[in-house]
Amino acid sequence: MPVNPIEWEEGKVKIIDQTKLPHKLDFLYIDRVEDLREAIRQMKIRGAPALGVAAAFGVVLGVKESKAKDMGSFQEEVKKVCGYLQSSRPTAKNLFWALDRMYRVVSEVDAGGNISPDELKQKLLREAFRIMNEDINCNKAIGENGSFLINDGDVILTHCNAGVLATAGYGTALSIIYKAKGEGKRVKVYVDETRPLLQGARLTAWELLREGIEVVLICDSMAGEVMREGKIDKVIVGADRVAANGDVANKIGTYSLAVLAKENEVPFYVACPLSTIDISIPLGERIPIEIRDKREVTFFCGKRCAPEGVKVYNPAFDITPSGYISAIITEKGICYPPYKQNLYKFFHRRK
Ligand code: MRU
Repeated sequence: MPVNPIEWEEGKVKIIDQTKLPHKLDFLYIDRVEDLREAIRQMKIRGAPALGVAAAFGVVLGVKESKAKDMGSFQEEVKKVCGYLQSSRPTAKNLFWALDRMYRVVSEVDAGGNISPDELKQKLLREAFRIMNEDINCNKAIGENGSFLINDGDVILTHCNAGVLATAGYGTALSIIYKAKGEGKRVKVYVDETRPLLQGARLTAWELLREGIEVVLICDSMAGEVMREGKIDKVIVGADRVAANGDVANKIGTYSLAVLAKENEVPFYVACPLSTIDISIPLGERIPIEIRDKREVTFFCGKRCAPEGVKVYNPAFDITPSGYISAIITEKGICYPPYKQNLYKFFHRRK
């Protein structure tokens, strides 16, 4: 791994401030849940799996000073902290999934049991570590499963950042590329810059170059032409939330890529852990899409690039209907259509 994207160090959450990349590799040491939530909102840490891990440690921070004397009041405090962190960003399933797991640590404790709030704090910390380590293992397995699809010499197009920086380790889409390279396959990666916040240009290009992978950066609007010219063998992206029918919410621009891939007969793959799959949501259209500040569009690298007063629409994610997706690569294997049946089987195989 080029860097450790998130760690727990002496009672603090240590993260890379991703807003500073690629200029500066700066670490933040966060010891207050309020600061952690703000770091998520400002996308100092971002990417669905990383948000889940950050939120889990956020719960630990949120209750560390708790003076609750009995279990009932401690459970209430944990519930409140989980709700507070849930309100940071709405789309990535992993954030809600991790918070559900954290809440279960206290809600499933036998009310008559003899366990103190201090012991529960330790249990919460252990669960946060479990969530982090599971994420690392899942992403490693995604790489192993997905590299089967990669041929020597493949040229892959990716969008946003579904790499190490978006997870606790390895990445999802990029884990496949790292694994394929590790197996001796030659791979080249076209990276969409990913306006408005440039996760492709700033983060994906940065981490792939550090791993010695050949990168070609393109503007988002160039992807169609690059595919039409026959330069791309495969598209691989990550996901923020996958509905039960296989529709995928991912960074804005993913849907356009999927349509272009189909038109140009390029396989379009989504890589994600099962913690991104939301079996409770039947269709992609029900996935909540985050709408972000208009200044992300009217400013470019800190400079105004649009007239004052212009109206802006800034959805951070879009929905790619499952019909455009060749396969969904998970830690349990490669899931092919029909997704409704197959995702369900994958999801339950987990248990
Ligand atoms: O707004 P971001 O940067 O958090 O969006 C991230 C993405 O869309 C990623 O592609 C997705 O979370 C998958 S990360 C492994």
